[in-house]
Amino acid sequence: KRGFRKLRFLWRLTYLSLFAGIGYAGYGIWLDRHPAPQQQPDPNKKTLVVLGTGWGSVSLLKKLDTENYNVIVISPRNFFLFTPLLPSCTTGTIEHRSIMEPIRAILSRKKTSVQFFEAEASSIDPDRKVVKIFDDSEIKGKISETEVPYDMLVVGVGSETATFGIQGVNEHSCFLKEIGDAQRIRKKIMDCVETAAFKDQSPEEIDRLLHMVVVGGGPTGVEFAAELQDFFEEDIKNLIPEFSHHFHVTLIEALPNVLPSFSKQLIEYTESTLKEQTIDIKTKTVVKKVTDRTVEAQCSLPSGSKETIVLTYGLLVWAAGNAVRPLVKDLMSKIPAQKDSRRGLAVNEYLVVQGTRDVWALGDCAVAGYAPTAQVAAQEGAFLAKLFNNMAKTESVEEEIQNLSSSLNVKPGVNAAETSQTIEQLEQQLKRVRDAKPFHYSHQGSLAYIGSEKAVADVSWWNGNIAAGGKLTYLFWRSAYLSMCFSTRNRFLVINDWLKSKTFGRDVSRE
Ligand code: FAD
Ligand code: NAI
Repeated sequence: KRGFRKLRFLWRLTYLSLFAGIGYAGYGIWLDRHPAPQQQPDPNKKTLVVLGTGWGSVSLLKKLDTENYNVIVISPRNFFLFTPLLPSCTTGTIEHRSIMEPIRAILSRKKTSVQFFEAEASSIDPDRKVVKIFDDSEIKGKISETEVPYDMLVVGVGSETATFGIQGVNEHSCFLKEIGDAQRIRKKIMDCVETAAFKDQSPEEIDRLLHMVVVGGGPTGVEFAAELQDFFEEDIKNLIPEFSHHFHVTLIEALPNVLPSFSKQLIEYTESTLKEQTIDIKTKTVVKKVTDRTVEAQCSLPSGSKETIVLTYGLLVWAAGNAVRPLVKDLMSKIPAQKDSRRGLAVNEYLVVQGTRDVWALGDCAVAGYAPTAQVAAQEGAFLAKLFNNMAKTESVEEEIQNLSSSLNVKPGVNAAETSQTIEQLEQQLKRVRDAKPFHYSHQGSLAYIGSEKAVADVSWWNGNIAAGGKLTYLFWRSAYLSMCFSTRNRFLVINDWLKSKTFGRDVSRE
């Protein structure tokens, strides 16, 4: 009887927590749909211009008290993109809109309104304190180029894909950085498949069309190769079984291993898992030239000699790391203190761009001594928000002290002892605010999907590290990314996509 009661209690508890969870999510959705009316910004406050709507800038905007500044956001992308699930969009496991969050929706939740311009910054003049912007979209108004003055500037424009000037890369390969890239890849995969199925296609041509080459064995390349092989095994193979022998994924990496930033044990596990899935891994192989149908690469043989190989391909995805954006290069060239920096804007421990005043940088475009990851960018954004909120507080406290001090001197009837005490308290408050600690990055760990419903995780735990790989890690990977999604709407859409592709298969229609 007692056991039965316990069971009934547990059952009720589950029920209650389920209802509480639904209620909480529902309340969150209601709040998002009914944001409180916004205050208008005070024109006397400083103008804070934020470039970019990626991980760094959006994390800053989320935590910034916008009532302290006139905030202007400029980005050619009017949405935030949850990049960790971008490789899943290339095969339709997840639909691209599920990982996008409109910046206007994000900004509508701020107490004081924020201006947004969908535009690309083309140059920054740190002496005149202006940013030149232009509208790069299809529809242009009478004005499509102008300048935006700033008092404070945050550069969070991310990075572009590195091509190292290798011949043919820009013209013939697909990158994997933005939503448009994922859509292009998805279309091209199906174009290769349908072209291979064209009447009277020769076996050699079918082999070429169905050979998918991925360059770069970092997390982007590995996750994409894994998603691609899954797509073939779970969907394409069932729909066109005669292609089973032709489909082939090759992953090319210049270093001796893929996923070099993971622990040795996880590198070995990843390589063996990829090989099990019949993905061909070519390490110590550097791509030197690309044409519309071939990839030329140089392999280092165990004997120490070099061999040149030429591979034909149908789809080539280039994921060879990050490069500095032209806007950032241009700004660096204007600042003498940046002359030795190669990978982006060198910043100090408060993320101030070295050699400038009132310019901060964060994320992939900043060199602060950390890896270019979403985790780093998000923490930097949160740090800057706190710093700016504190700076505004400092200014208002300073102003208050000044007013009180002058009233002490000139206003008759002021209680001098009481005012002096208030000033002392305010000065202490000021000291606390001014003692802001420099940026400190806290690494939570790294996760990567490696295919066949397996993932690897290098996670920080207490003072140590846990390295894990397999199906359970995959469940952890999914729940971690789900919890990190920007909004309840994104979470709902991603779960829906996962269920949809598992139940009905991925959509192979080509838009
Ligand atoms: P971004 O997020 O790239 O944002 C840059 C913003 O600047 C964009 O809004 C862009 O439109 C805008 N912009 C560009 N040029 C201009 C301009 N001239 N003027 C104004 N605005 C401009 N990291 C992880 O930690 N975990 C992961 O699982 C992970 N997965 C990834 C998967 C993929 C496929 C990729 C490509 C990256 C992944 N990363 C991951 C890395 C992570 O996405 C980046 O480190 C992160 O996006 C950097 O943030 P950011 O704010 O610096 O730049
Ligand atoms: P990366 O820089 O991590 O890897 C690129 C790889 O390409 C390197 O290993 C490099 O040796 C190789 N390469 C470069 N040129 C080559 C050539 N010519 N021929 C053959 N190989 C060549 O780049 P990636 O994967 O795009 O990642 C960028 C950043 O984003 C990293 O900091 C990464 O940690 C982060 N990221 C994290 C993810 C995760 O945690 N799951 C997923 C994707 C990216």
